Amino acid sequence: MNRLRTVVVSAFVLATGAVAVTGPSQDAKTAIPRLERRGGATQLVVDGVPFLILGGEVGNSSGESGYLAPYWPGLRALNLNTILAPVYWELMEPQEGRYDFSQVDGLVRDARANHVRLVLLWFASWKNSVSTYAPAWVKTNTARFPRAADATGRGLDILSPLSNASRDADARAFAALMRHVRETDGSTHTVLMVQVENEIGMIADARDRSDAANRLFGEAVPRALIDHLARGGEKLAPELQALWTAAGRRTSGTWEQVFGRGRATDELFTAWQFATYVQAVVAAGKAEYALPMFVNAALIRPGALPGQYPSGGPLPHLFDVWRAAAPSIDFLSPDIYFQTFAEWCRRYARSGNPLFIPEAQRSADAAVNAFYALAEHDAIGFSPFAIESASGPGAASLAESYRLLSGLAPTILAHQGRAGMAGLLPEGPEQRLPQELSLGGYVLRVSYERQAGPSLADGAVTPLGAQPGLWPAGGLVIATGQDEFLFAGIGITITFAIEGSADPVGILSAEEGEFSDGAWRHGRWLNGDQTHQGRHIRLEPGHFSVQRVKLYRYREP
Ligand code: DGJ
Repeated sequence: MNRLRTVVVSAFVLATGAVAVTGPSQDAKTAIPRLERRGGATQLVVDGVPFLILGGEVGNSSGESGYLAPYWPGLRALNLNTILAPVYWELMEPQEGRYDFSQVDGLVRDARANHVRLVLLWFASWKNSVSTYAPAWVKTNTARFPRAADATGRGLDILSPLSNASRDADARAFAALMRHVRETDGSTHTVLMVQVENEIGMIADARDRSDAANRLFGEAVPRALIDHLARGGEKLAPELQALWTAAGRRTSGTWEQVFGRGRATDELFTAWQFATYVQAVVAAGKAEYALPMFVNAALIRPGALPGQYPSGGPLPHLFDVWRAAAPSIDFLSPDIYFQTFAEWCRRYARSGNPLFIPEAQRSADAAVNAFYALAEHDAIGFSPFAIESASGPGAASLAESYRLLSGLAPTILAHQGRAGMAGLLPEGPEQRLPQELSLGGYVLRVSYERQAGPSLADGAVTPLGAQPGLWPAGGLVIATGQDEFLFAGIGITITFAIEGSADPVGILSAEEGEFSDGAWRHGRWLNGDQTHQGRHIRLEPGHFSVQRVKLYRYREP
Protein backbone atom coordinates (compact mmCIF):
# COMPACT_ATOMS: atom_id res chain seq x y z
CA MET A 1 0.00 0.00 0.00
CA ASN A 2 2.99 2.32 -0.13
CA ARG A 3 1.74 3.73 -3.42
CA LEU A 4 -1.20 5.41 -1.72
CA ARG A 5 -1.67 8.87 -3.03
CA THR A 6 -2.11 10.58 0.32
CA VAL A 7 0.94 11.46 2.33
CA VAL A 8 0.78 9.57 5.59
CA VAL A 9 4.28 10.33 6.81
CA SER A 10 4.77 11.10 10.45
CA ALA A 11 5.85 14.65 10.74
CA PHE A 12 6.62 17.57 12.91
CA VAL A 13 6.23 21.06 11.66
CA LEU A 14 9.05 23.52 11.78
CA ALA A 15 8.50 27.18 12.54
CA THR A 16 8.25 27.89 8.82
CA GLY A 17 5.49 25.36 8.33
CA ALA A 18 7.86 23.03 6.50
CA VAL A 19 7.53 19.39 7.36
CA ALA A 20 10.26 17.08 8.55
CA VAL A 21 9.57 13.44 7.85
CA THR A 22 10.41 10.60 10.19
CA GLY A 23 9.61 6.98 9.52
CA PRO A 24 7.63 4.72 11.82
CA SER A 25 9.30 1.82 13.59
CA GLN A 26 8.86 -1.69 12.15
CA ASP A 27 6.56 -2.68 15.05
CA ALA A 28 4.38 0.34 14.53
CA LYS A 29 4.13 -0.42 10.81
CA THR A 30 2.74 -3.88 11.41
CA ALA A 31 0.27 -2.75 14.11
CA ILE A 32 -3.36 -2.76 13.00
CA PRO A 33 -5.09 0.59 12.39
CA ARG A 34 -5.89 2.13 15.76
CA LEU A 35 -6.91 5.35 17.45
CA GLU A 36 -4.24 7.13 19.42
CA ARG A 37 -4.32 10.19 21.61
CA ARG A 38 -1.72 12.64 20.31
CA GLY A 39 -1.56 16.04 21.97
CA GLY A 40 -5.16 16.97 22.67
CA ALA A 41 -6.51 15.08 19.64
CA THR A 42 -7.47 11.51 18.88
CA GLN A 43 -5.95 10.43 15.58
CA LEU A 44 -6.24 7.37 13.40
CA VAL A 45 -2.83 5.73 13.14
CA VAL A 46 -2.23 3.51 10.12
CA ASP A 47 1.00 1.57 9.61
CA GLY A 48 2.52 3.53 12.47
CA VAL A 49 1.71 7.04 11.24
CA PRO A 50 -1.32 9.34 11.67
CA PHE A 51 -3.75 9.35 8.79
CA LEU A 52 -6.49 11.77 7.71
CA ILE A 53 -9.41 10.17 5.91
CA LEU A 54 -10.25 12.16 2.78
CA GLY A 55 -13.14 9.93 1.94
CA GLY A 56 -16.33 9.36 0.07
CA GLU A 57 -19.17 6.96 0.86
CA VAL A 58 -20.68 5.01 -2.00
CA GLY A 59 -24.45 4.77 -2.41
CA ASN A 60 -26.32 2.07 -0.56
CA SER A 61 -26.61 -0.29 -3.52
CA SER A 62 -23.17 0.40 -4.99
CA GLY A 63 -21.10 -1.94 -2.84
CA GLU A 64 -20.68 -4.77 -5.36
CA SER A 65 -17.45 -4.94 -7.29
CA GLY A 66 -19.02 -5.45 -10.71
CA TYR A 67 -21.38 -2.53 -10.29
CA LEU A 68 -18.71 -0.19 -8.95
CA ALA A 69 -16.12 -1.05 -11.63
CA PRO A 70 -16.95 1.74 -14.13
CA TYR A 71 -16.94 4.34 -11.37
CA TRP A 72 -13.33 3.84 -10.26
CA PRO A 73 -11.73 6.27 -12.74
CA GLY A 74 -14.09 9.00 -11.49
CA LEU A 75 -13.38 8.10 -7.87
CA ARG A 76 -9.62 8.23 -8.47
CA ALA A 77 -9.98 11.66 -10.06
CA LEU A 78 -11.46 12.97 -6.79
CA ASN A 79 -8.08 12.52 -5.04
CA LEU A 80 -9.72 10.71 -2.15
CA ASN A 81 -7.72 8.22 -0.11
CA THR A 82 -10.55 6.18 1.42
CA ILE A 83 -13.85 4.72 0.27
CA LEU A 84 -16.64 3.99 2.73
CA ALA A 85 -18.65 1.04 1.47
CA PRO A 86 -21.38 -1.22 2.83
CA VAL A 87 -21.15 -4.91 3.60
CA TYR A 88 -24.62 -6.46 3.39
CA TRP A 89 -25.58 -9.03 6.03
CA GLU A 90 -28.25 -10.48 3.72
CA LEU A 91 -25.65 -11.29 1.04
CA MET A 92 -22.93 -12.36 3.46
CA GLU A 93 -25.05 -14.91 5.36
CA PRO A 94 -27.80 -16.01 2.96
CA GLN A 95 -28.33 -19.13 5.03
CA GLU A 96 -27.72 -19.20 8.74
CA GLY A 97 -24.11 -20.04 9.50
CA ARG A 98 -23.06 -20.21 5.80
CA TYR A 99 -20.97 -17.23 4.89
CA ASP A 100 -20.22 -15.81 1.48
CA PHE A 101 -17.51 -13.15 1.67
CA SER A 102 -17.31 -12.45 -2.05
CA GLN A 103 -18.85 -8.98 -1.78
CA VAL A 104 -16.39 -7.71 0.82
CA ASP A 105 -13.50 -9.48 -0.92
CA GLY A 106 -14.40 -7.60 -4.11
CA LEU A 107 -14.32 -4.29 -2.29
CA VAL A 108 -10.93 -4.99 -0.73
CA ARG A 109 -9.47 -6.18 -4.03
CA ASP A 110 -10.74 -3.14 -5.93
CA ALA A 111 -9.65 -0.71 -3.22
CA ARG A 112 -6.12 -2.13 -3.34
CA ALA A 113 -6.03 -1.98 -7.12
CA ASN A 114 -7.05 1.68 -6.95
CA HIS A 115 -4.71 2.54 -4.07
CA VAL A 116 -7.34 3.62 -1.59
CA ARG A 117 -8.26 2.37 1.87
CA LEU A 118 -11.66 1.22 3.05
CA VAL A 119 -14.04 1.91 5.90
CA LEU A 120 -16.61 -0.88 5.96
CA LEU A 121 -20.23 -0.17 6.90
CA TRP A 122 -21.94 -3.16 8.50
CA PHE A 123 -25.51 -2.97 7.17
CA ALA A 124 -27.10 -5.55 9.45
CA SER A 125 -29.86 -5.33 12.06
CA TRP A 126 -30.61 -1.67 11.27
CA LYS A 127 -30.11 0.57 8.28
CA ASN A 128 -31.87 3.96 8.47
CA SER A 129 -33.98 2.68 11.38
CA VAL A 130 -35.42 -0.33 9.56
CA SER A 131 -34.17 -3.89 9.18
CA THR A 132 -34.17 -4.36 5.43
CA TYR A 133 -30.59 -5.70 5.27
CA ALA A 134 -31.28 -8.63 7.63
CA PRO A 135 -31.14 -11.96 5.77
CA ALA A 136 -34.40 -13.58 4.70
CA TRP A 137 -34.09 -16.25 7.42
CA VAL A 138 -34.17 -13.43 9.98
CA LYS A 139 -36.84 -11.32 8.30
CA THR A 140 -39.31 -14.17 7.93
CA ASN A 141 -38.95 -15.67 11.40
CA THR A 142 -40.61 -13.08 13.58
CA ALA A 143 -41.18 -15.58 16.37
CA ARG A 144 -37.43 -16.01 16.78
CA PHE A 145 -36.45 -12.49 15.71
CA PRO A 146 -39.22 -10.25 17.04
CA ARG A 147 -40.12 -6.84 15.71
CA ALA A 148 -40.62 -3.65 17.66
CA ALA A 149 -44.27 -2.69 17.83
CA ASP A 150 -46.26 0.53 17.81
CA ALA A 151 -48.81 1.52 20.44
CA THR A 152 -51.56 -0.46 18.66
CA GLY A 153 -49.46 -3.62 18.81
CA ARG A 154 -48.68 -3.55 15.06
CA GLY A 155 -45.21 -4.86 14.21
CA LEU A 156 -42.73 -2.39 12.73
CA ASP A 157 -40.10 -3.14 10.11
CA ILE A 158 -37.56 -2.73 12.92
CA LEU A 159 -35.99 -5.67 14.73
CA SER A 160 -36.65 -5.22 18.41
CA PRO A 161 -33.42 -4.21 20.16
CA LEU A 162 -34.63 -6.26 23.12
CA SER A 163 -34.16 -9.57 21.34
CA ASN A 164 -31.16 -11.62 22.44
CA ALA A 165 -31.68 -13.93 19.47
CA SER A 166 -31.38 -11.08 16.95
CA ARG A 167 -28.44 -9.59 18.81
CA ASP A 168 -26.60 -12.91 18.91
CA ALA A 169 -27.27 -13.64 15.24
CA ASP A 170 -25.96 -10.23 14.23
CA ALA A 171 -22.96 -10.55 16.57
CA ARG A 172 -22.07 -14.01 15.18
CA ALA A 173 -22.18 -12.73 11.61
CA PHE A 174 -20.20 -9.62 12.46
CA ALA A 175 -17.58 -11.70 14.26
CA ALA A 176 -17.31 -13.89 11.16
CA LEU A 177 -16.83 -10.78 9.02
CA MET A 178 -14.11 -9.39 11.26
CA ARG A 179 -12.37 -12.78 11.43
CA HIS A 180 -12.37 -12.87 7.64
CA VAL A 181 -11.05 -9.30 7.40
CA ARG A 182 -8.26 -10.18 9.85
CA GLU A 183 -7.35 -13.29 7.89
CA THR A 184 -7.34 -11.53 4.51
CA ASP A 185 -6.26 -8.00 5.46
CA GLY A 186 -4.62 -8.26 8.88
CA SER A 187 -1.19 -7.42 7.51
CA THR A 188 -2.13 -5.16 4.58
CA HIS A 189 -4.51 -2.79 6.40
CA THR A 190 -6.66 -1.80 3.47
CA VAL A 191 -9.59 -1.80 5.91
CA LEU A 192 -9.11 1.00 8.44
CA MET A 193 -12.28 1.13 10.51
CA VAL A 194 -15.82 -0.27 10.64
CA GLN A 195 -19.14 1.45 11.10
CA VAL A 196 -21.51 -0.90 12.91
CA GLU A 197 -25.14 -0.69 11.67
CA ASN A 198 -26.33 2.50 10.00
CA GLU A 199 -28.40 5.38 11.37
CA ILE A 200 -30.07 3.41 14.13
CA GLY A 201 -33.26 4.96 15.46
CA MET A 202 -36.85 4.18 16.45
CA ILE A 203 -39.56 5.89 14.43
CA ALA A 204 -42.52 6.83 14.42
CA ASP A 205 -42.61 6.47 18.18
CA ALA A 206 -39.78 7.19 20.59
CA ARG A 207 -39.82 3.64 21.90
CA ASP A 208 -40.80 0.09 21.20
CA ARG A 209 -44.35 -0.51 22.55
CA SER A 210 -44.23 -4.31 22.42
CA ASP A 211 -45.28 -6.15 25.59
CA ALA A 212 -41.66 -7.08 26.27
CA ALA A 213 -40.59 -3.44 25.94
CA ASN A 214 -43.42 -2.20 28.14
CA ARG A 215 -42.44 -4.66 30.85
CA LEU A 216 -38.80 -3.63 30.73
CA PHE A 217 -39.71 0.04 30.72
CA GLY A 218 -41.43 -0.52 34.09
CA GLU A 219 -38.28 -1.98 35.60
CA ALA A 220 -35.36 -0.17 37.23
CA VAL A 221 -32.95 1.96 35.22
CA PRO A 222 -29.78 -0.16 34.87
CA ARG A 223 -27.15 0.47 37.50
CA ALA A 224 -24.47 1.15 34.86
CA LEU A 225 -26.43 4.17 33.60
CA ILE A 226 -27.10 5.49 37.09
CA ASP A 227 -23.41 5.15 37.95
CA HIS A 228 -22.50 7.00 34.76
CA LEU A 229 -24.91 9.82 35.69
CA ALA A 230 -23.50 10.04 39.18
CA ARG A 231 -19.92 10.14 37.86
CA GLY A 232 -20.69 12.49 34.96
CA GLY A 233 -21.12 15.75 36.87
CA GLU A 234 -20.88 18.78 34.64
CA LYS A 235 -19.72 16.66 31.71
CA LEU A 236 -23.16 15.11 31.19
CA ALA A 237 -25.05 16.28 28.11
CA PRO A 238 -27.07 19.34 29.22
CA GLU A 239 -30.36 17.82 28.00
CA LEU A 240 -29.83 14.70 30.10
CA GLN A 241 -28.66 16.74 33.05
CA ALA A 242 -31.85 18.83 32.84
CA LEU A 243 -34.18 15.81 32.66
CA TRP A 244 -32.51 14.08 35.57
CA THR A 245 -32.44 17.23 37.70
CA ALA A 246 -36.10 18.04 36.98
CA ALA A 247 -37.03 14.54 38.16
CA GLY A 248 -35.09 14.97 41.42
CA ARG A 249 -31.71 13.39 40.59
CA ARG A 250 -32.81 10.02 41.92
CA THR A 251 -30.22 7.26 41.89
CA SER A 252 -32.70 4.41 41.62
CA GLY A 253 -36.16 3.78 40.23
CA THR A 254 -37.93 3.10 36.97
CA TRP A 255 -37.19 5.12 33.84
CA GLU A 256 -40.11 7.44 34.52
CA GLN A 257 -39.16 7.82 38.19
CA VAL A 258 -35.57 8.72 37.39
CA PHE A 259 -36.13 10.89 34.30
CA GLY A 260 -39.81 11.90 34.42
CA ARG A 261 -42.61 11.02 32.07
CA GLY A 262 -42.59 11.86 28.37
CA ARG A 263 -41.04 11.36 24.95
CA ALA A 264 -37.56 12.29 26.13
CA THR A 265 -37.55 9.49 28.69
CA ASP A 266 -38.98 7.05 26.14
CA GLU A 267 -36.05 7.96 23.91
CA LEU A 268 -33.48 7.44 26.68
CA PHE A 269 -34.87 3.94 27.17
CA THR A 270 -34.64 3.29 23.42
CA ALA A 271 -31.07 4.55 23.27
CA TRP A 272 -30.12 2.24 26.11
CA GLN A 273 -31.64 -0.80 24.35
CA PHE A 274 -30.00 -0.02 21.00
CA ALA A 275 -26.63 0.76 22.55
CA THR A 276 -26.64 -2.38 24.69
CA TYR A 277 -27.39 -4.50 21.62
CA VAL A 278 -24.70 -2.80 19.50
CA GLN A 279 -22.19 -3.17 22.32
CA ALA A 280 -22.56 -6.95 22.05
CA VAL A 281 -22.11 -6.83 18.26
CA VAL A 282 -19.06 -4.58 18.46
CA ALA A 283 -17.47 -6.62 21.25
CA ALA A 284 -17.90 -9.83 19.23
CA GLY A 285 -16.29 -8.18 16.19
CA LYS A 286 -13.42 -6.69 18.16
CA ALA A 287 -12.71 -10.07 19.76
CA GLU A 288 -11.82 -11.23 16.24
CA TYR A 289 -10.15 -8.10 14.91
CA ALA A 290 -10.05 -4.92 16.98
CA LEU A 291 -10.24 -2.19 14.34
CA PRO A 292 -11.68 1.17 15.43
CA MET A 293 -15.49 0.92 15.36
CA PHE A 294 -18.15 3.60 15.39
CA VAL A 295 -21.86 4.23 14.93
CA ASN A 296 -23.50 7.02 12.94
CA ALA A 297 -26.63 9.09 13.48
CA ALA A 298 -29.37 10.66 11.39
CA LEU A 299 -29.56 14.19 12.77
CA ILE A 300 -32.64 15.97 14.06
CA ARG A 301 -34.59 18.35 11.87
CA PRO A 302 -35.24 21.65 13.62
CA GLY A 303 -38.28 21.41 15.86
CA ALA A 304 -38.70 17.62 15.61
CA LEU A 305 -39.57 15.76 18.83
CA PRO A 306 -38.51 12.26 19.90
CA GLY A 307 -40.49 9.84 17.77
CA GLN A 308 -40.61 12.30 14.88
CA TYR A 309 -36.97 11.62 13.99
CA PRO A 310 -35.03 8.33 14.25
CA SER A 311 -34.92 8.27 18.04
CA GLY A 312 -32.41 6.74 20.39
CA GLY A 313 -29.50 6.80 17.94
CA PRO A 314 -26.06 8.20 18.81
CA LEU A 315 -27.24 11.80 18.98
CA PRO A 316 -25.46 14.44 21.07
CA HIS A 317 -28.13 14.57 23.77
CA LEU A 318 -27.80 10.78 24.14
CA PHE A 319 -23.99 10.54 24.18
CA ASP A 320 -23.96 9.54 27.85
CA VAL A 321 -26.38 6.69 27.35
CA TRP A 322 -24.37 5.34 24.42
CA ARG A 323 -21.10 5.68 26.31
CA ALA A 324 -22.43 3.97 29.43
CA ALA A 325 -24.05 1.11 27.50
CA ALA A 326 -21.49 0.66 24.73
CA PRO A 327 -17.96 1.28 25.98
CA SER A 328 -16.46 -0.74 23.08
CA ILE A 329 -17.65 1.83 20.52
CA ASP A 330 -14.78 4.21 19.80
CA PHE A 331 -16.79 7.21 18.71
CA LEU A 332 -20.20 8.50 17.65
CA SER A 333 -20.56 10.13 14.25
CA PRO A 334 -22.94 12.60 12.61
CA ASP A 335 -24.23 12.28 9.04
CA ILE A 336 -24.39 15.99 8.22
CA TYR A 337 -26.85 16.85 5.48
CA PHE A 338 -27.94 20.14 7.04
CA GLN A 339 -26.47 23.51 6.12
CA THR A 340 -25.59 24.10 9.78
CA PHE A 341 -22.42 22.08 9.28
CA ALA A 342 -20.28 23.95 11.82
CA GLU A 343 -22.89 23.66 14.54
CA TRP A 344 -23.20 19.86 14.18
CA CYS A 345 -19.42 19.50 14.15
CA ARG A 346 -19.26 21.42 17.41
CA ARG A 347 -21.95 19.27 18.99
CA TYR A 348 -20.21 16.02 18.01
CA ALA A 349 -16.72 17.15 18.99
CA ARG A 350 -17.74 17.80 22.55
CA SER A 351 -16.77 15.84 25.66
CA GLY A 352 -13.84 14.12 24.01
CA ASN A 353 -15.76 12.43 21.16
CA PRO A 354 -13.39 12.20 18.17
CA LEU A 355 -15.09 13.74 15.14
CA PHE A 356 -15.46 11.65 12.00
CA ILE A 357 -18.10 12.51 9.41
CA PRO A 358 -18.97 9.37 7.44
CA GLU A 359 -21.72 11.05 5.43
CA ALA A 360 -22.10 14.64 4.30
CA GLN A 361 -24.06 16.44 1.66
CA ARG A 362 -22.43 16.04 -1.73
CA SER A 363 -22.58 19.74 -2.54
CA ALA A 364 -19.89 22.18 -3.61
CA ASP A 365 -19.65 23.13 0.07
CA ALA A 366 -18.30 19.68 0.91
CA ALA A 367 -14.94 20.93 -0.31
CA VAL A 368 -14.66 23.63 2.37
CA ASN A 369 -16.48 21.67 5.05
CA ALA A 370 -13.63 19.15 4.94
CA PHE A 371 -11.06 21.88 5.68
CA TYR A 372 -13.17 23.18 8.55
CA ALA A 373 -13.74 19.83 10.27
CA LEU A 374 -10.11 18.72 10.03
CA ALA A 375 -8.67 22.02 11.26
CA GLU A 376 -11.25 23.35 13.71
CA HIS A 377 -12.29 20.08 15.35
CA ASP A 378 -9.28 17.83 14.75
CA ALA A 379 -11.50 15.50 12.73
CA ILE A 380 -10.25 12.05 11.78
CA GLY A 381 -11.86 12.41 8.39
CA PHE A 382 -14.67 13.56 6.16
CA SER A 383 -16.75 11.79 3.53
CA PRO A 384 -19.55 13.04 1.25
CA PHE A 385 -22.31 10.56 0.40
CA ALA A 386 -23.01 8.79 -2.91
CA ILE A 387 -19.53 9.75 -3.99
CA GLU A 388 -19.61 7.71 -7.20
CA SER A 389 -22.29 10.10 -8.47
CA ALA A 390 -20.18 13.21 -7.93
CA SER A 391 -19.87 15.28 -11.08
CA GLY A 392 -19.70 18.87 -12.29
CA PRO A 393 -18.39 21.74 -10.16
CA GLY A 394 -19.16 19.92 -6.88
CA ALA A 395 -16.80 17.12 -7.92
CA ALA A 396 -14.23 19.56 -9.30
CA SER A 397 -14.01 21.56 -6.09
CA LEU A 398 -13.88 18.42 -3.94
CA ALA A 399 -11.07 17.00 -6.09
CA GLU A 400 -9.14 20.25 -5.80
CA SER A 401 -9.62 20.52 -2.05
CA TYR A 402 -8.66 16.87 -1.47
CA ARG A 403 -5.54 17.39 -3.59
CA LEU A 404 -4.45 20.32 -1.41
CA LEU A 405 -5.45 18.55 1.78
CA SER A 406 -3.39 15.50 0.80
CA GLY A 407 -0.34 17.74 0.67
CA LEU A 408 -1.31 19.53 3.87
CA ALA A 409 -2.17 16.36 5.80
CA PRO A 410 1.14 16.03 7.71
CA THR A 411 0.99 19.70 8.70
CA ILE A 412 -2.64 19.47 9.82
CA LEU A 413 -1.97 16.26 11.73
CA ALA A 414 1.02 17.84 13.48
CA HIS A 415 -1.15 20.77 14.64
CA GLN A 416 -4.23 18.81 15.67
CA GLY A 417 -4.78 18.89 19.41
CA ARG A 418 -2.67 22.03 19.80
CA ALA A 419 -3.57 25.70 19.89
CA GLY A 420 -2.80 27.61 16.71
CA MET A 421 -5.01 26.03 14.04
CA ALA A 422 -8.55 27.07 13.09
CA GLY A 423 -11.15 26.19 10.49
CA LEU A 424 -12.66 29.03 8.48
CA LEU A 425 -16.30 28.67 7.50
CA PRO A 426 -19.16 31.15 7.16
CA GLU A 427 -21.88 30.47 9.70
CA GLY A 428 -24.66 30.17 7.15
CA PRO A 429 -25.88 32.50 4.40
CA GLU A 430 -26.35 35.35 6.85
CA GLN A 431 -22.62 35.67 7.53
CA ARG A 432 -22.07 39.29 6.50
CA LEU A 433 -19.69 40.74 9.06
CA PRO A 434 -16.14 39.44 9.10
CA GLN A 435 -15.49 36.64 11.57
CA GLU A 436 -12.91 37.45 14.21
CA LEU A 437 -10.48 35.00 15.68
CA SER A 438 -7.39 35.27 17.87
CA LEU A 439 -4.38 33.31 16.73
CA GLY A 440 -0.64 33.62 17.32
CA GLY A 441 -0.96 36.99 19.06
CA TYR A 442 -3.04 38.51 16.24
CA VAL A 443 -6.72 39.19 15.69
CA LEU A 444 -7.72 37.90 12.26
CA ARG A 445 -10.81 39.33 10.57
CA VAL A 446 -12.02 36.89 7.96
CA SER A 447 -14.59 37.62 5.28
CA TYR A 448 -15.96 35.23 2.69
CA GLU A 449 -16.51 35.72 -1.00
CA ARG A 450 -18.16 33.42 -3.51
CA GLN A 451 -17.91 33.63 -7.22
CA ALA A 452 -20.37 32.44 -9.80
CA GLY A 453 -19.11 29.26 -11.39
CA PRO A 454 -20.76 26.84 -13.77
CA SER A 455 -24.18 25.60 -12.64
CA LEU A 456 -24.29 22.52 -10.45
CA ALA A 457 -24.82 19.92 -13.12
CA ASP A 458 -24.93 16.91 -10.82
CA GLY A 459 -28.01 18.05 -8.99
CA ALA A 460 -25.96 18.77 -5.89
CA VAL A 461 -27.70 20.95 -3.37
CA THR A 462 -27.06 24.66 -3.60
CA PRO A 463 -24.40 25.69 -1.11
CA LEU A 464 -25.71 27.32 2.05
CA GLY A 465 -28.97 28.17 0.39
CA ALA A 466 -27.25 30.77 -1.76
CA GLN A 467 -27.93 31.25 -5.45
CA PRO A 468 -27.03 28.31 -7.66
CA GLY A 469 -23.62 28.37 -9.26
CA LEU A 470 -21.63 29.88 -6.44
CA TRP A 471 -18.34 28.34 -5.42
CA PRO A 472 -17.91 27.62 -1.73
CA ALA A 473 -15.85 29.83 0.58
CA GLY A 474 -13.78 28.71 3.54
CA GLY A 475 -10.59 26.95 4.55
CA LEU A 476 -8.12 26.88 7.40
CA VAL A 477 -5.37 28.86 9.05
CA ILE A 478 -2.38 27.65 11.03
CA ALA A 479 -0.09 29.88 13.11
CA THR A 480 3.19 28.31 12.04
CA GLY A 481 5.60 30.53 13.98
CA GLN A 482 6.22 34.02 15.34
CA ASP A 483 4.32 36.39 12.99
CA GLU A 484 3.81 33.57 10.46
CA PHE A 485 0.66 31.93 9.16
CA LEU A 486 -0.32 29.31 6.66
CA PHE A 487 -3.68 29.79 4.91
CA ALA A 488 -5.44 27.25 2.71
CA GLY A 489 -8.86 27.45 1.12
CA ILE A 490 -10.96 29.45 -1.25
CA GLY A 491 -12.75 32.80 -1.27
CA ILE A 492 -11.32 34.19 1.97
CA THR A 493 -9.91 37.61 2.73
CA ILE A 494 -8.09 38.26 5.98
CA THR A 495 -7.01 41.48 7.66
CA PHE A 496 -4.84 41.56 10.76
CA ALA A 497 -4.54 43.49 14.01
CA ILE A 498 -2.24 42.92 16.96
CA GLU A 499 -3.98 41.56 19.99
CA GLY A 500 -4.12 44.24 22.67
CA SER A 501 -2.31 46.89 20.60
CA ALA A 502 -3.29 49.55 18.12
CA ASP A 503 0.03 49.30 16.24
CA PRO A 504 -0.46 48.67 12.54
CA VAL A 505 0.41 45.36 10.93
CA GLY A 506 2.15 44.99 7.58
CA ILE A 507 2.55 42.04 5.25
CA LEU A 508 6.20 41.17 5.01
CA SER A 509 5.66 38.44 2.46
CA ALA A 510 2.91 36.32 0.97
CA GLU A 511 3.95 33.25 -0.94
CA GLU A 512 1.57 31.09 -2.90
CA GLY A 513 2.46 27.45 -3.41
CA GLU A 514 1.55 24.04 -2.06
CA PHE A 515 2.83 21.08 -0.10
CA SER A 516 3.54 17.96 -2.02
CA ASP A 517 5.27 14.83 -0.69
CA GLY A 518 6.13 16.69 2.51
CA ALA A 519 7.93 19.58 0.80
CA TRP A 520 6.80 23.14 0.08
CA ARG A 521 6.69 23.97 -3.63
CA HIS A 522 6.92 27.66 -4.44
CA GLY A 523 4.32 29.03 -6.83
CA ARG A 524 4.72 32.83 -6.81
CA TRP A 525 5.25 35.78 -4.51
CA LEU A 526 2.09 37.83 -4.02
CA ASN A 527 2.14 41.62 -3.65
CA GLY A 528 0.52 44.66 -5.25
CA ASP A 529 -3.08 44.07 -6.31
CA GLN A 530 -2.98 40.53 -4.93
CA THR A 531 -2.53 41.83 -1.36
CA HIS A 532 -4.54 45.02 -1.95
CA GLN A 533 -1.24 46.94 -1.71
CA GLY A 534 -0.29 45.26 1.58
CA ARG A 535 -3.68 45.62 3.27
CA HIS A 536 -4.95 42.03 3.27
CA ILE A 537 -4.36 38.41 2.39
CA ARG A 538 -6.78 37.04 -0.14
CA LEU A 539 -7.33 33.48 -1.29
CA GLU A 540 -9.27 34.17 -4.43
CA PRO A 541 -12.78 32.86 -4.96
CA GLY A 542 -13.25 30.22 -7.63
CA HIS A 543 -10.21 28.06 -6.92
CA PHE A 544 -8.37 26.60 -3.93
CA SER A 545 -4.95 27.89 -2.98
CA VAL A 546 -2.36 27.89 -0.19
CA GLN A 547 -0.33 30.84 1.06
CA ARG A 548 2.50 31.19 3.56
CA VAL A 549 2.39 34.64 5.10
CA LYS A 550 4.81 36.66 7.23
CA LEU A 551 3.64 39.76 9.06
CA TYR A 552 5.49 42.62 10.70
CA ARG A 553 4.51 45.40 13.08
CA TYR A 554 5.34 49.06 12.73
CA ARG A 555 4.68 52.26 14.66
CA GLU A 556 4.41 55.89 13.83
CA PRO A 557 7.88 57.41 14.48
C1 DGJ B 1 -28.41 8.56 5.22
C2 DGJ B 1 -28.10 7.08 5.25
O1 DGJ B 1 -27.21 6.79 6.29
C3 DGJ B 1 -27.54 6.62 3.93
O2 DGJ B 1 -27.33 5.22 3.97
C4 DGJ B 1 -28.48 7.01 2.82
O3 DGJ B 1 -29.70 6.37 2.98
C5 DGJ B 1 -28.64 8.51 2.82
N1 DGJ B 1 -29.20 8.94 4.08
C6 DGJ B 1 -29.53 8.96 1.68
O4 DGJ B 1 -29.64 10.32 1.62
